[in-house]
Amino acid sequence: MNAKKTKKIVVLATGGTIAGLAIDATKPQNYTAGQVRVADLLQGVAHDGIELLTEQVAQIDSKDMSFAVWQRLLARVEHWLEQEDVQGVVITHGTDTLEETAYFLQTVLHPAKPVAMTCAMLPANAPGSDGPGNLKDALAWVQVPGSQGVTVVCAGQVHAGNAVQKSHSHQRNPFTSQANVMHPAHLRVPSAAQVLGCVHGPRVELVQNHAGADGRLVRALMAQDAPHGWVVAGTGNGTLHHDLEAALLDAQKLGTQVLRASRCAQGGVQSREADMLSHAGSLTAVQARVALLLHLVAQ
Ligand code: SIN
Repeated sequence: MNAKKTKKIVVLATGGTIAGLAIDATKPQNYTAGQVRVADLLQGVAHDGIELLTEQVAQIDSKDMSFAVWQRLLARVEHWLEQEDVQGVVITHGTDTLEETAYFLQTVLHPAKPVAMTCAMLPANAPGSDGPGNLKDALAWVQVPGSQGVTVVCAGQVHAGNAVQKSHSHQRNPFTSQANVMHPAHLRVPSAAQVLGCVHGPRVELVQNHAGADGRLVRALMAQDAPHGWVVAGTGNGTLHHDLEAALLDAQKLGTQVLRASRCAQGGVQSREADMLSHAGSLTAVQARVALLLHLVAQ
């Protein structure tokens, strides 16, 4: 008789508030992210009928996320998804840059198996912490027949990895999803091997249009230590103060790639005939930064 093989789920941990500890559990806002190891996070989280494998890929506050950590995470997600007996991957991550990591992984891997990212808004030792419940939901989501791709599982909701956005700084459910998010057709997507072979990630800086945006910051950096790319979060439909626009057009003439997004939370940028700088369509500014970075890796 053939014994039915137990499916495996891999939990990759990167830190965040879900792994955070408050010095005084009654004051959970005073805490340090990325303290509790993944094996301890899973204690008490029911996972009947599945075999859990765990790896501590990083242990950081996600405000400190870097290209090097993304490379490590990409390598481990790719490795585990290739194993036939692995049903899916769960990633624990801080909420602050989760949308960037989710966009990065979904764009590069487009996984046919489920990759559920999860998180918490309260540290692990706070009374009523949301981490264990979110982790349990993420483990359940990767077992749902037909689930696939990178998603974010938080506060009872599932968001597509390429559409999620942190839109509240402290409520228990900080995420919303944008509608109709598309990767801009003019931006190339590298293979995972190209991303992993990149010794230093391209440097893409993010600047914002605002009243009095005079472009001095762009000109100063171009003169001293020019980045490989600029993303600008424009006003409204990606519009720019004429001085900032002039500085970015000069940067473009010098060979630096420039991409316009909108500082509005929803809607992105729509094309206009007079456009002189290309735009990121439906992407938010931080997603546009990931997209331009990947485009530069692919060149
Ligand atoms: C972080 O992003 O690592 C800290 C904040 C959070 O997880 O909510």
